[in-house]
Amino acid sequence: MSPKAKRVFYCTECGNETPKWQGQCSACGAWNTIVEQPAELTAKGSASPRRTSPGRGLNRPKAIRDVETTDELRFNTGMAELDRVLGGGAVKGSLVLVGGAPGIGKSTLMLQICDSLCRFANVLYVSGEESQRQIKLRAERLKVRGEGLYLLSETNLDDVIESVNQLKPDVLIVDSIQTMYSGDGAASPGSVGQVKECAMALMQLAKGQGITVFVIGHINKEGSLAGPKVLEHMVDCVLYFEGEEHMSHRILRAAKNRFGATNEIGVFEMGDEGLTEVPNPSEALLSGRPQDTPGTCVTCVMEGARPVLAEIQALVVPSSYGNARRTSNGFDYNRAVLLLAVLEKRGGLMVNGCDAYLNVIGGLWVGEPAADLAAIIALASSFRDKNVPGDLAAVGEVGLTGELRSVNSLSQRLAEIQRLGFTKCLVPARSHGKVVAPAGLQLIRVHNIREALAAVL
Ligand SMILES: Nc1ncnc2c1ncn2[C@@H]1O[C@H](COP(=O)(O)OP(=O)(O)OP(=O)(O)O)[C@@H](O)[C@H]1O
Ligand SMILES: [Mg+2]
Repeated sequence: MSPKAKRVFYCTECGNETPKWQGQCSACGAWNTIVEQPAELTAKGSASPRRTSPGRGLNRPKAIRDVETTDELRFNTGMAELDRVLGGGAVKGSLVLVGGAPGIGKSTLMLQICDSLCRFANVLYVSGEESQRQIKLRAERLKVRGEGLYLLSETNLDDVIESVNQLKPDVLIVDSIQTMYSGDGAASPGSVGQVKECAMALMQLAKGQGITVFVIGHINKEGSLAGPKVLEHMVDCVLYFEGEEHMSHRILRAAKNRFGATNEIGVFEMGDEGLTEVPNPSEALLSGRPQDTPGTCVTCVMEGARPVLAEIQALVVPSSYGNARRTSNGFDYNRAVLLLAVLEKRGGLMVNGCDAYLNVIGGLWVGEPAADLAAIIALASSFRDKNVPGDLAAVGEVGLTGELRSVNSLSQRLAEIQRLGFTKCLVPARSHGKVVAPAGLQLIRVHNIREALAAVL
């Protein structure tokens, strides 16, 4: 007699499992997202760890000196910006997840890399969302030649694996993981069990046969990959494709990378003929910057090894209600509130009774404290309604006492600031290491925000 079947419930948003049904998920806080996992999937799920991949014997421990490392071959995808984010090209036999909001251009990006990939490799593009005809039309629009490119419109992963075994491609692209299902389809595609199962099968393809697999994943409105978080743990790289809906710039960001740094970004521009790379993001992000207007200041942030200039805009207006409103976009909200408090107490600007809005232009997310000083300058400039000189940039972390603290890679940042035609830069007076000011860039060294405000406003 079989033991009593264990009932398992899970959240369709975050994948958190609970032994009983509840209205709100205790992990992510979403309402009405807990559903019961089908019994057979639960039983199958518990048996899956013992499964060995087809065509492979039992894995045995190996001494580290005997493990061959030559397998970790990298190849260029033909898109330098993507290669940069992947840490210098795609790794053979790796599983890469590309996540992004609907319509951001995930399928476009993947189809475009096929153009160069299929010159030296066989590529299989599997779509569960579009017909072969639709993909071909898109490929024609994107001018993808596609000598060794094969298309498959399929949602059953078992059939996909069958095709892979026949075709033996070097690169497999799956669009998207949420449309695939494996087994008898008892659980609907996109459910936690299915996504896990499919990702596991694709992982085995990647590792077992040395196929580089790119998997597209949809993002829900909260910004995390729809379906289970567990997917992020299973794959080798997680790339997020981001951008403002009404802007043509797209930013590809590595959230996880087992083969390289995670703080690299790649910048693209979406046009009629698909995505074009933007090798010079600072220039693109600063284009259209308003001149002679209060409330804007430029800073330089490090995105991986690359310095990128960002424009921070602020609007400070007297509050008409009791509680002052604070909003930030592209800048950490709590950091913005803290900087406003420092500006009031240490800078002597009465911003407490004012509404304040902070915005980073171009869909960039600035998480670095090095942008603090530029935010302070932009806020103060808007409050006093005085322009910041157009050829001035600011770099520095602001402490709670209003002091300016040094930042890393200052010389690199200054070089980028000078390259983009700025002639003056506010920097912390004390900085570790020797700071080389590039020719033509005047450094204004300041100890605290009062000095900084006095110097520029
Ligand atoms: N015929 C066209 N001409 C110009 N641009 C187009 C055309 N079709 C699509 N696009 C652009 O491509 C974008 C959609 O790209 P794509 O289909 O690659 O996105 P996606 O992230 O794969 O979307 P989904 O989530 O629906 O799969 C559109 O937002 C649009 O900007
Ligand atoms: Mg798509």
